[in-house]
Amino acid sequence: MVQQAVPPERTVPTDRPTSLELVRITEAAAIAAAHWMGHGNTTMADQAAVEAMRKSMEDANFHGTIVIGEGERDEAPMLYIGERVGRGEGAEVDIAVDPLEGTNPVAKGRPNAVATMAVSEPGGLLHAPDTYMEKLVVGAPAKGKVDLDRPVAENLRIIAESLNRDVNDLTVVILDRPRHARLIDDVRRAGARIKLIEDGDLMGALSVAIALTGVHAVMGTGGAPEGVLAAAALRCMGAEILGRLRFRSDEERARARKMGVADETRVYRTEDLASGKDIRFIATGVTDGDVLQGVRLFARGARTHSILLDRRMGKLRFIDTIHYEDIDNPPIIRLR
Ligand code: FBP
Repeated sequence: MVQQAVPPERTVPTDRPTSLELVRITEAAAIAAAHWMGHGNTTMADQAAVEAMRKSMEDANFHGTIVIGEGERDEAPMLYIGERVGRGEGAEVDIAVDPLEGTNPVAKGRPNAVATMAVSEPGGLLHAPDTYMEKLVVGAPAKGKVDLDRPVAENLRIIAESLNRDVNDLTVVILDRPRHARLIDDVRRAGARIKLIEDGDLMGALSVAIALTGVHAVMGTGGAPEGVLAAAALRCMGAEILGRLRFRSDEERARARKMGVADETRVYRTEDLASGKDIRFIATGVTDGDVLQGVRLFARGARTHSILLDRRMGKLRFIDTIHYEDIDNPPIIRLR
């Protein structure tokens, strides 16, 4: 039963940035990127999202530090790792951003692109280097039971048992990449179904934690920053990600060593990747997806659809927002 009285650990510090001001940040990035849908230009779509996100952070009531962003200071003009953001009032927070998760999908007008970020008290999100991560994502029933080092067939059997279904009735999300040929083969041999995606294993991970999306696991190697963002979301939903860093070059390895995160054997669990007590995860759809609707643009306005997960408060909100271009000349307001 939902408690009416607020337990002490859920009382909110008065200087905590409000969830709505966080949502405004991903909404701004999503709208900016959505204008580039189908234009075939990944750079412009990404740049628009980055600029809009960075600008809207200027009004936000926090002292923020970007811990996962667009790259190192010398390679990214905005939202670089270590950049201080926010209005400079309110609580200190660490922020992981992916202003446009799915640059290719936006450029091609394909599904599942989002603007996203995670926020926690300082130290609550792993400062993951911009490299790859081998991932296994499962829903709450299989949490603590699967293992990245187990054969694929065995993990699938455990996931199936946890969901009280057969392996044949499982669907696994895998990025469609040549590096996954063996994994795809193993999953097929075990008898499970596969949803090959072109991009966006972060939203794939969220789908695993949400019933009726029709997917039951994510397997394979994708971006490490996306792994931390996924962990922030999954931590709020009781689901699990296991991740192991996979460096693509010695340069990446050296950079990771400098960041103090260079162990290629360590399996990180959800709580290692997103250890904070006060974690919030926000994503706004850019193009239509399995969990979120994309931005709808119309005369004098736009409509966005976001998910906001708040671990401390124990809330998951779907937020449907109509944005006016001109407050004195509102757009037509439709029920949905
Ligand atoms: P961006 O659009 O943010 O660049 O990433 C999209 C994405 O598909 C991620 O979801 C995934 O983790 C990663 O890229 C996979 O990397 P690669 O395309 O190199 O296989």
